[in-house]
Amino acid sequence: MVKRIVLAYSGGLDTSVLIKWLQEKYGAEVITVTLDVGQREDLKAIEEKAYRLGVLKHYSIDAKDEFARNYVFPAIKANALYEGKYPVSTALSRPLIASKLVEVAEREHADAVAHGCTGKGNDQVRIEVSVKALNPNLKVIAPIREWNMTRDAEIDFAREHGIPILVDKGKPYSIDQNLWGRSIECGILEHPDKEPPEDAFEWTVAPEKAPNEPEYVSIEFESGVPVALNGRSMEPVNLIESLNSIAGRHGVGRIDHMEDRLVGIKSREVYECPAATVIIEAHKDLEKLVLTRHEVLFKQHIDAEWAYLVYAGLWMDPLKEDLDAFINKTQERVNGEVRVKLFKGNGLVVGRSSPYSLYDIHLATYNIDTTFNQASSAGFIELWGLPTRVARALKRIGKG
Ligand code: ARG
Repeated sequence: MVKRIVLAYSGGLDTSVLIKWLQEKYGAEVITVTLDVGQREDLKAIEEKAYRLGVLKHYSIDAKDEFARNYVFPAIKANALYEGKYPVSTALSRPLIASKLVEVAEREHADAVAHGCTGKGNDQVRIEVSVKALNPNLKVIAPIREWNMTRDAEIDFAREHGIPILVDKGKPYSIDQNLWGRSIECGILEHPDKEPPEDAFEWTVAPEKAPNEPEYVSIEFESGVPVALNGRSMEPVNLIESLNSIAGRHGVGRIDHMEDRLVGIKSREVYECPAATVIIEAHKDLEKLVLTRHEVLFKQHIDAEWAYLVYAGLWMDPLKEDLDAFINKTQERVNGEVRVKLFKGNGLVVGRSSPYSLYDIHLATYNIDTTFNQASSAGFIELWGLPTRVARALKRIGKG
C-alpha cells in the first residue's frame, strides 16, 4: 500500500490532473516538488495551485545555481551535443529533479515518487533510473504510462475536479525549458518536412529579423568553464542567462534535427539554446588552442560518449564519473578568452587567446623567417606514407 507520494510537479495540466488522480486512485497523501532550473515560470503561482488542489505539502526549490554549476558546467567541459546537435538541456535537468524527489521523499517518509512523463519519451528513463539508483526502496509511479486517457478525457477529468485549464491561444506545443535551453515539441513540428513556424520560438528572433549590425561577445574561460562575459566576471546563472538573451536577439541557437530516442523512436526535435550553442562553440575552439592534437582527437570520442550517457539517463552510472575524471584533467589548461561574432543566426568564433596557447607563430608562419625545419618533412613523409605505399604496391600487381 502506498500512503504518501512525492510528485514532480510542473504546474501544467498533466501533473495537476496527476495530483487528483493519485489522491483518488491510491487514497494517498500527495506532496509536490517544483524545481526552479531557470524555466522562467512563476514558482509562487505553481505553489498556490498545488495547495488549491489539496496537496499535503509543497516544496519550491531554487536549484538554478546547483543546476548551472553541477550539471551545465560539466556539459560545457564535455562539449556535450547528442548526435552532434542537441546540447542535452532537458536531459541534464532530470537527474537533478530525481535527486530532489528522493531527498524530499526520504525527509517526508514517503513510500513512492511519481512523475508525469509519457511512456514514449526519454524523461521517464532518466528520472526512474536516477531515483532507483539513489534509493531502490522507493516505488516509482508513472500514471501517464498506464492511464490511457485521451486529451479530451483528461480535460473532462480536470473540469470535474476543478482543475484550471489554461487555453493557450492556439499554441499546441509541449515545452520544456531550463537555463540551458528550450525544447519545443508536438503539433506541426511532428512533420519533419515542414519548417517550424515562428510561433514555436520564444528565446530567439528569426535570423532574417535579427539586427543588421553584428555584435561581438568575449567569453573568458577558467579550467574549462565560463567565468566572464565581455570582461565582466559573472556567476554561472547570470552569465548563462545574459548570453541567452544576447545571442537570442541575433537569432543564434535554433536547432532543428532528427533525433534517436532511447525507446527506439525517431523524432523531429526543435530547440532554442542560444547560450549553449555559443559557449560550446567557443569552448571547443579554445580547447583546440591549448590541447595537443592527440588530446583533441581522443577527447572527441569521450565527449560523444558523455553526451550519449547523459541523454540515455545514465548520469548516475560510474562510467560518467570515469569520463568526468578524464575530462576534468584535460580542462586544467583550458583558460583563455574567445571572441564570438553574432550575426543573423550565426555565432562565429573570430578570435581566441590563452596563456596556455600551443600556437607558435614561428612554427606556423609561411614566411621564410621560421624555426620549422622544412627539410625534416621529407623524411617524415617517407615514413608516414610507408604502409600505404606497401599496400598499394600489392594492389598494383593485382593482389589485395
Ligand atoms: N528530446 C529531448 C530530450 O529527450 C526533449 C524532451 C523534452 N521533454 C519534455 N518533457 N517536453 O531530452
